[in-house]
Amino acid sequence: MSTGDLPARFEAIFRQKPTILARAPGRVNLLGEHVDYNNGLALPCGIQFAALVGLREKSSGPVRLAALDLGAEHAFRLPDLEAPIDQLRANTPDWARYPVGVCWAWVHSGHRLPHFDAAYTCDVPAEAGLSSSAAIEVALASALRSLQAVEWSDIELAKLCQSAEHTMAGVHSGLMDQWTSVSAVKDHVLLLDFEYLSARSVPLPAQVSIVVADTGVPRALAASAYNQRVQECHHAVAELRRHRDGFESLREITPEDFGSLAGHLSQPARMRAQHVVEEIERVRQGAKCLEGGDAAGFGKLMRASHASLRDLFQVSGPELDKMVEIANRLDGAYGSRLTGAGFGGSTVSLVERDRAGEFCDQLARRYLAETGKRAKTWVCQAGAGAHADVI
Ligand code: GLA
Repeated sequence: MSTGDLPARFEAIFRQKPTILARAPGRVNLLGEHVDYNNGLALPCGIQFAALVGLREKSSGPVRLAALDLGAEHAFRLPDLEAPIDQLRANTPDWARYPVGVCWAWVHSGHRLPHFDAAYTCDVPAEAGLSSSAAIEVALASALRSLQAVEWSDIELAKLCQSAEHTMAGVHSGLMDQWTSVSAVKDHVLLLDFEYLSARSVPLPAQVSIVVADTGVPRALAASAYNQRVQECHHAVAELRRHRDGFESLREITPEDFGSLAGHLSQPARMRAQHVVEEIERVRQGAKCLEGGDAAGFGKLMRASHASLRDLFQVSGPELDKMVEIANRLDGAYGSRLTGAGFGGSTVSLVERDRAGEFCDQLARRYLAETGKRAKTWVCQAGAGAHADVI
């Protein structure tokens, strides 16, 4: 997305031009699902769709936020951020919870929040599992970081945005979406390690394209089902701690260990834990496949990941399963799986580059024929992470 007419639209609302423009992408995750909140490993990348924020500091008055795509505005006073969180949530319209959450987290991390006006637009498809909310949070936080010249690392910025999501949206998400939006590298996939908080970029093999396809199924109940999975994983850790002192996360178990420990786990914690343990191992192998240019090997891991998300972690659904099944049968496909939290949203497929266009057409056509639903497909360009410019 180019900065386009954002400055002019900002000026039409606030009568002055913005002084900072920030951009932050959505993300797609290739492998490593529901492992970030288990100290695991994942392989996401940034995408070409992004949120853009224009911001200008002012000397006084309420903070004003304008969501250009919605034609909506919301204003709040800085002292409102000190109110009990339930009150702040109740006084904030749904769409504004992400930017207001960033402001809340900013203040509660001990930093001064300036008076400012901000306008934003976002072309990351909403409700598609491509992290439009993280893009909005990270774009605003990047603009504020640049305005105040705060020496925050990428991880600190991502954590601030994650706490906005926890507090204002009530989703107990891991760090993957915000971290990817901050740190993505063009033409690369990130190997993120959520235990050591280290990131390494891995180039995409030249002969492949990443295809994202939205099933068109809205992620209804996604927040409550997601939080339930987080709880179930915590429950598995608590059960295992009774048998292993100091046990802290599912990351500590290898697939070989799992066999001897599984008997200590009740259901559904056992199935959830098995998925997490094996998915982390798949990411380790997947990073090696990418580095060795082994697209077929990576595709097999994607297929296994989907089966595990469907059968063990139980976050898929009929449309996601159908779309993955169709994709896996198409010419040029290495592998396909659901991406993001699941419960609706999108699939991601690794495809031979020369056949990506044809793959998209076939996938949409067959999905329509078999489900009666229209899919949206995109060939993904792995884009760079957030940046902010003073203008
Ligand atoms: C959502 C969350 C992430 C991650 C994924 C599943 O996108 O925001 O933190 O847990 O689901 O991998």
